[in-house]
Amino acid sequence: MSPVVGVIGGGQLARMMVPAAIALGIEIRVLAEQEGMSAAIAATAVGDYRDLDTVLAFARDVDVITFDHEHVPQKVLKGLVKAGVEVRPGPGALAVAQDKVLMREKLTSLGLPVPAWGTVSRKKELRAFLGDHGGRAVVKTPRGGYDGKGVKVVDDAGDVREWFTALDEDANGGVLLVEELVDFRRELAQLVARRPSGEIAVWPLVETVQEGGVCSEVIAPAPGNVASAQAEAIARAVAEGLGVTGVLAVELFETQQGELLVNELAMRPHNSGHWTIDGAVTSQFEQHLRAVLDLPLGDTDPLRDWTVMANVLGGPESGWMTDRYADVLGTDGGVKVHAYGKPSRPGRKVGHVNAVGDDLDDVLERARAMRDLFR
Ligand SMILES: Nc1ncnc2c1ncn2[C@@H]1O[C@H](COP(=O)(O)OP(=O)(O)O)[C@@H](O)[C@H]1O
Ligand SMILES: [Mg+2]
Repeated sequence: MSPVVGVIGGGQLARMMVPAAIALGIEIRVLAEQEGMSAAIAATAVGDYRDLDTVLAFARDVDVITFDHEHVPQKVLKGLVKAGVEVRPGPGALAVAQDKVLMREKLTSLGLPVPAWGTVSRKKELRAFLGDHGGRAVVKTPRGGYDGKGVKVVDDAGDVREWFTALDEDANGGVLLVEELVDFRRELAQLVARRPSGEIAVWPLVETVQEGGVCSEVIAPAPGNVASAQAEAIARAVAEGLGVTGVLAVELFETQQGELLVNELAMRPHNSGHWTIDGAVTSQFEQHLRAVLDLPLGDTDPLRDWTVMANVLGGPESGWMTDRYADVLGTDGGVKVHAYGKPSRPGRKVGHVNAVGDDLDDVLERARAMRDLFR
């Protein structure tokens, strides 16, 4: 009988697990938040992932539960485990990905390099941090942020007035995370996968480019001299130290001095790994399925010298990426196009393109040209 993987969340990450599951003959079932989502093709249930009964009903008869996102509440995760469901990554590891303050605490206790950080619940505490760190800092809401939502560069405590007000109104109290504003040379990401029995697979370190807090391009491998051995050691330490299963992405800053600092962690396939679909022997989506089923992991070698991934953000002014195919696809038949089945909205990730080859400038240009045709 085919193994059955249940994925909570119907976004593009769940969608992109589907072809990998089909190729391996694995059954994939998705619990989608709504009808018509990106992963609708594999949705066997539609419901609220915050409701334990809904999730328990979905998890009946699956071999393992995994995720499209990190927002499933701890009480639901623990309820699944209590009912005997395999949950990968498990609640303990996911808790760290769910809360940026806990993340900073765990990374610090693992002895890994992170930006200077603290927590603040009052404006005067933020003012003190600003005073100690050159007058500028980054404030983050600990939970629920993505694509730069919940991240703000500030030089005055009043810049995040609404976030302080929200803390005051929150019966649970709570804090904001504050970090030094890192003057990075560039951002990098280290993707690995770990299976429960301990095997770890490591893809090449990549460079990621963010625009307005949102990933726009990824270059694999990261060009130039880069501390790839250190990045690998950091990712292994996180995967083992937190007992992560499945794909783990470690977002890194490379400082002007060439040092690495950990920005944040994601415990699922990640935008920085979309290049692997067309650029590596084993894609992150296939690897995630193998890892959560505790199967031997696939090779992570790149297929060509360079792969460039470019996100289609916003997409066409109206309609769908696919509406443009007749005009656009013929421009460069070598660039691979991935559309997420989502209608356009400003800034929304609606798809990506991958270009591969042996000349970086050429690969960059081809990826950007195709991406621009969809914008
Ligand atoms: N301490 C920092 N110093 C400088 N830039 C930062 C810092 N933290 C975040 N950023 C910038 O903001 C982006 C989004 O922040 P991140 O914490 O990764 O949030 P998200 O959960 O939205 O991805 C980062 O990729 C980086 O470009
Ligand atoms: Mg991030």
